[in-house]
Amino acid sequence: MKQYLIKLCLVFAAVVLLAVPQVSQAKELNGDLEIFSWWAGDEGPALQALIGLYKGQHPNVNVIDATVTGGSGVNAKAVLKTRMLGGEPPDSFQVHAGQELIGTWVKSDRMEDLTFLFKEEGWMDVFPEGLVKLIGTDKGIWSVPVNIHRSNVMWYIPANLKKWGVEAPKNWNDFLKIAPKLQKEGIIPLAMGQNWTATHLWESVVIASIGADKWNDLWSGKLKFNSPEMIKAWELFGKILPYTNKDAASLSWQQATDMVIDGRAAFNIMGDWAAGYMSTTKKMVPGKDFAWIASPETEGVFIFLADSFGLPKGAPNRDNAIAWLKLLGSKKGSDTFNPLKGSISARTDTDLSKYNVYLQSAAKDFAKDAVAASLIHGAAANETFMGGFAQVMEMFLKTKNAKATAMASQQLADKAQIGK
Ligand code: GAL
Repeated sequence: MKQYLIKLCLVFAAVVLLAVPQVSQAKELNGDLEIFSWWAGDEGPALQALIGLYKGQHPNVNVIDATVTGGSGVNAKAVLKTRMLGGEPPDSFQVHAGQELIGTWVKSDRMEDLTFLFKEEGWMDVFPEGLVKLIGTDKGIWSVPVNIHRSNVMWYIPANLKKWGVEAPKNWNDFLKIAPKLQKEGIIPLAMGQNWTATHLWESVVIASIGADKWNDLWSGKLKFNSPEMIKAWELFGKILPYTNKDAASLSWQQATDMVIDGRAAFNIMGDWAAGYMSTTKKMVPGKDFAWIASPETEGVFIFLADSFGLPKGAPNRDNAIAWLKLLGSKKGSDTFNPLKGSISARTDTDLSKYNVYLQSAAKDFAKDAVAASLIHGAAANETFMGGFAQVMEMFLKTKNAKATAMASQQLADKAQIGK
């Protein structure tokens, strides 16, 4: 009997030993993985770090990092559209959470439902409910969020402000008081870049003027774009613009940030990828070499956007793409990507000790502030509105006519069925 038992144990051990390697070894992936985004050049280090992790996990996959330069995806989105409509989707592509995803690619039935992945990976419990709603519909969940960025931040260099004897303005009246003084000394009060960065500034100015609740009312159709409040907001925007640089239209967002770093300009209102640029690329120390406040009169409001990646229907390398999405949504992936990118993790179980003081302050604000959806970064409106708004903005930059621009934006809202 004893011998029999020993034999049985040996057979059992052999079976376990033979079985374990098969169970624990994940399916070996190979072939290509094409990741499409606009994180090129000095916007690239965070994505590169993620790709590095992926290559470590799947050494036989050839990763194609397909980038089209241009902040906020101005150029990439057009290329993506051509490819998607031409039946040549990449394996996975960058897309903002919110209407840029839902009102565009989900509406046209081009995406795969990722609910299975959210369930398998336990993501229903780690991503905030509000965020899952933004990337979901009653039919599914359509992308994996990789970060949370804040749009309404005013950046400056403390040593320069000290030299010029000015303080970061808490409200636009203060800004309008110090701006002429700075200008007299040959300093640009507010650095700005190409068209989309004007809209980026505009969202902060409008929210300062009408408040976060009314901003949200614009997108639900409760407040008209040609209402007296909105005309007033355009007027305020018109008062600020003369204090921006004349060559704005030809500058990237990085070049506008460079003006502040170099001391040619005092302030810049940009999303916190500027913090990533200054700390990761320029090796500046947050809180010492550069500093920030909420853009004037938006303290307590977090203008929000999130980058995410989805799985288009017909992705040539579906399995590789799913492995990519798993990494993006994982704690390790998130805490590798975000500290370099200048964004906070979309996960609620993030390890904040890996993040610098700017990001720790952003995480604190996100937890307590009122959240408003960014227009220019895809959270608030569909592509019809966003595409048309570039022309509305162009019209204002040329004419400075608040009333006519407010009218034009309401016409656009009707066309894009905002709030319908
Ligand atoms: C935003 C994007 C950010 C950053 C920025 C500048 O739209 O969400 O991650 O890339 O554009 O290009």
